[in-house]
Amino acid sequence: MDSLEKFERDVLDRLATLQGADEVEALRKEALGKASPLAVALKGMRQLPAAERPAAGQRIHDVRARLSARLDLQRQRALEPLGSGRRTKAAVSAVDVSLPGRRLPPGAAHPLRLIEEEVVDCLVPLGFEIASGRLIEHEWYNFEALNMGAAHPARDMHDTFFVRPDVVLRTHTSSVQIRTMKGQPPPVRILAPGLVFRRDEVDATHMPAFHQIEGLWVDEHATFADLKGVLRTLLVRLFGAQTAVRFRPSYFPFTEPSCEVDVGCDACGGKPQSQCRICRGSGWLEVLGAGMVHPAVLQAVGYDVESVQGFAFGLGLDRLAMLRWGIDDIRALYDNDLRFLRRTAGLGI
Ligand code: DAH
Repeated sequence: MDSLEKFERDVLDRLATLQGADEVEALRKEALGKASPLAVALKGMRQLPAAERPAAGQRIHDVRARLSARLDLQRQRALEPLGSGRRTKAAVSAVDVSLPGRRLPPGAAHPLRLIEEEVVDCLVPLGFEIASGRLIEHEWYNFEALNMGAAHPARDMHDTFFVRPDVVLRTHTSSVQIRTMKGQPPPVRILAPGLVFRRDEVDATHMPAFHQIEGLWVDEHATFADLKGVLRTLLVRLFGAQTAVRFRPSYFPFTEPSCEVDVGCDACGGKPQSQCRICRGSGWLEVLGAGMVHPAVLQAVGYDVESVQGFAFGLGLDRLAMLRWGIDDIRALYDNDLRFLRRTAGLGI
């Protein structure tokens, strides 16, 4: 590298570290002024043979032009944020410090988050801990270990998205029961909130991705009476002390016996034949499924069915939120319409 090339590189390197327009101007004087290596080289041309002078002159000129352009650019950049000359002064005087500040609208948690927090706040004091699993789950955790073999008819309601023939987007949070029990010995007392997926058509009550919260309690003597106590505590907290709670026999492959739990419909006061839009005249709203953990499930995770037993329950958080705030279309929870979100958060419109 000859000395002019080195000089150009040095100037560019220094330029890259400069911030203010004044610094750029100082560098311009140094690099392009009378004492600069460029000026020295220009003077030195007299000593060169006449034949070499045009090429040498051209090189000096090129280096100078390149540096000058880069210095201009940098100066411009340095001035840009503030504007230049009169514009800067106008901008500064436009700030009226006596004006009131700009108010930031208060934020609030999404209804799904609020209902999840409420369930968690209610049950954590009873000894539950938060557990998490995987959204993309192996079929074994989502189905097989939960006593839903490949040909089980209950799989129909869990039609899902297959990532590979044996890997699915989880259809329920019950898979977290299996992950947790596989990973630790009893006792287990967990709550697992999270997203689940099903190949459902979108309508007022269905979304292909929605939220559940799962509960699991396994130890030496957890009974159905404990299950009822836990669920009643939760439902009274969510819907109020006067709320009627009904346990109805049901079926799930991973619990035996199984039940579905309803709360009395608030909207019509539980009067059957009332044409109620919310409970469709039945007077009851189904809010969750539950039961005693099936021995086949305990066996699948390697627990000793002779010495431990337990119960499990699963709630749809979207449905809970809809009941809680009288939301009649599940899509409202996913539309991101601020007017809706402000209403449920109690912030007014
Ligand atoms: N996994 C069920 C579903 O998505 C809900 C459920 C029912 C969970 C009963 C449970 C249970 O833990 O015991 O439909």
